[in-house]
Amino acid sequence: MVASDELRRALAAAGVGFSEGERLALHTTIGIGGEAPIFLKPTNATEVLAALAILTRFEVPFRILGAGSNLLVDDGPLDFAVVALKPWLEEPAWAADGVVAAAGAFLPGLARAAAERGLGGLEFAIGIPGSVGGALRMNAGAAGSAMETVVEWAEVARVGEREVAVERLRPHFRYRSAGLADQDVVLRVRFRLTRGEPTALLAIQAENIARRRQTQPTAARSAGCMFKNPAGDSAGRLVDACGLKGLRRGAAEVSTLHANYVLNRGGASAAEVRALIAEVKARVRAATGVELEEEVVRWPTRP
Ligand code: EPU
Repeated sequence: MVASDELRRALAAAGVGFSEGERLALHTTIGIGGEAPIFLKPTNATEVLAALAILTRFEVPFRILGAGSNLLVDDGPLDFAVVALKPWLEEPAWAADGVVAAAGAFLPGLARAAAERGLGGLEFAIGIPGSVGGALRMNAGAAGSAMETVVEWAEVARVGEREVAVERLRPHFRYRSAGLADQDVVLRVRFRLTRGEPTALLAIQAENIARRRQTQPTAARSAGCMFKNPAGDSAGRLVDACGLKGLRRGAAEVSTLHANYVLNRGGASAAEVRALIAEVKARVRAATGVELEEEVVRWPTRP
């Protein structure tokens, strides 16, 4: 897929910045991902909606990129456009009982700002290196809590066959899911927070970060936890119990610190990561009968 002149002109007329042939490896925390033919960089909600309308009108398939932290993008070239929400720099709208944040906002930054203002509820989120929109879609969680405990509503652009409609909705949360369709684009999220003492809230966040640094390979390149936890158990514990820490395929490696992390040890390809995932799943299945399911979102080269 390549951009047509008409598409370039429409994006330029709407003031939506874009680049061509952008390597997704530069935009994912695991440092993997092929080239996107068109990479859109809207800087506000109006431009996001314009970008979605133009892509829909030109029938260009697309995917939405947040912080790229829970994402495994295949080795390219990719056959779809990417809309990056990160450059969308709308300031959070603070209130006495919560905040409305843009989808592209970085969740740990929002969590910290909330604590500093004496708004509690986002302490769990300080160590989740995702965007607000991505964390909502995934119902991201840590430290015994998750997005569902604090989200009041989400403003979502629902991309239909011909038009884009904006809706405010209460997500139907389940473990690591908000029940949104692939084509739903989160624009803003309203968090309901409670009053707290800034020093106490910041101390809880510091504890959560310290625990995470002790138990998870936070400095290495990864996409976070690779598998969902099976009911009543931990995927990391299972993979570890099967003796798979340190298992490698090329430069992809099962972390020796937390076995639910797959690390890019330098120049790993998506194919190597997929091969490692398949091997881990097969060995866990053979040893325990448990079928692990990926938590990380995969973008195949075709939409
Ligand atoms: N364990 C092992 N070996 C390992 C890893 C873990 O034996 O290699 C054991 C631990 O000792 C502990 C148990 O397994 O007894 C649970 O481990 P942990 O507390 O690390 O939690 P987890 O269930 O592995 C979940 C989330 C993490 C989140 C942590 C901390 C999932 C898939 N994982 O991990 O989320 O950070 O709790 O709150 O839900 C993510 O979703 O990307 C993620 C990292």
